[in-house]
Amino acid sequence: MADLTMFSSKPYDRTGFEAANQHHDAPFGIDFFETRLTERTASLAAGSVAVCAFVNDDLSAAVLRTLSDGGTSVVAMRCAGFNNVDVGAAGDCGITLVRVPSYSPNAVAEHTLALMLGLNRHIHRAHNRVRDGNFSLDGLVGFDMAGKTAAVIGTGRVGAIVARLLWHLRCEVVAVDPFEDEHLLELGVSYVSLNEALTKADIVTLNCPLIEQTHHLIDGEALAVMKQGAMLVNTGRGALVDTDAVVEALKIGHLGSLALDVYEEEGDLFFEDRSDEIIDDDVFARLLTFPNVLITAHQAFLTREALSAIAETTLLNIRTVLAGEACENTIS
Ligand code: NAI
Repeated sequence: MADLTMFSSKPYDRTGFEAANQHHDAPFGIDFFETRLTERTASLAAGSVAVCAFVNDDLSAAVLRTLSDGGTSVVAMRCAGFNNVDVGAAGDCGITLVRVPSYSPNAVAEHTLALMLGLNRHIHRAHNRVRDGNFSLDGLVGFDMAGKTAAVIGTGRVGAIVARLLWHLRCEVVAVDPFEDEHLLELGVSYVSLNEALTKADIVTLNCPLIEQTHHLIDGEALAVMKQGAMLVNTGRGALVDTDAVVEALKIGHLGSLALDVYEEEGDLFFEDRSDEIIDDDVFARLLTFPNVLITAHQAFLTREALSAIAETTLLNIRTVLAGEACENTIS
């Protein structure tokens, strides 16, 4: 019987966890499953005191109850966000929830910049053209980042680095966050209301968590307030954005361009090879048709450093809870 059952695990997760596990005198027995955690698969963890889950696993009340009935007392999220967990139900089942609040904010911030720069300069299209022997530059005109106004929505661990990188690119940076970062203030970043940020910005990047107040933060109304031709980048969580409204804004040309690393309905798409399948999500399929949309499949976290930090912290979280000690990364 494994001590720890890991769901949604890919070869790159396994490498990081196996290495981190060997750093301990008494390594855990770990069962790695590629399948997502759902009501149907939860029983695979029967007998494991700990379960490790990821962003698109189902941690609803029913799933948590099955895990608890099977002997699981710790659920370790190997990510920062936990919007997919019924936190109250975990408490009712006597399950301790832990997470990895920070593993490499640089990884996510750098990917955010990569999307922004790549989209602006049409790198994805240019690469395809050159490989196809098409050296035309028509349609590939970008803009200088220097001098543009960038709005960073959420200046926590990731957003603060994004803001700093944009400042280094000589953008004027405005920020939206209930908590002001004094180091950013010192750089000259100004905190403004969401409305003012959207009105002013040439580039808007979403780096806040998905909570009740931020669900569809960027909806039809917010998009209407945005500058004509502005760029929107979302590496936070899919449902920060009302995707239907974004498609409409792209269709009428009001939204200039869009980069996504996360998507509202990504649970049924991302992290798997679906190149032989028909995509039955019409909204996502429509997004793929726009030349001014760049999408990556939730890979902002995917650096060697981040994977190693995720594995180390997750295993330490589990050990701490099982030892009956206070774990600083406890959600509830
Ligand atoms: P964090 O908790 O350090 O910072 C979040 C910031 O958002 C905080 O400063 C908070 O005050 C602010 N905030 C909360 N409500 C807000 C609102 N209504 N408007 C503006 N700001 C608001 O989180 P961190 O580490 O910076 O991560 C940010 C988000 O990035 C995570 O919640 C997660 O959803 C996402 N993420 C995405 C990854 C990916 O691979 N695409 C990987 C890791 C995180």
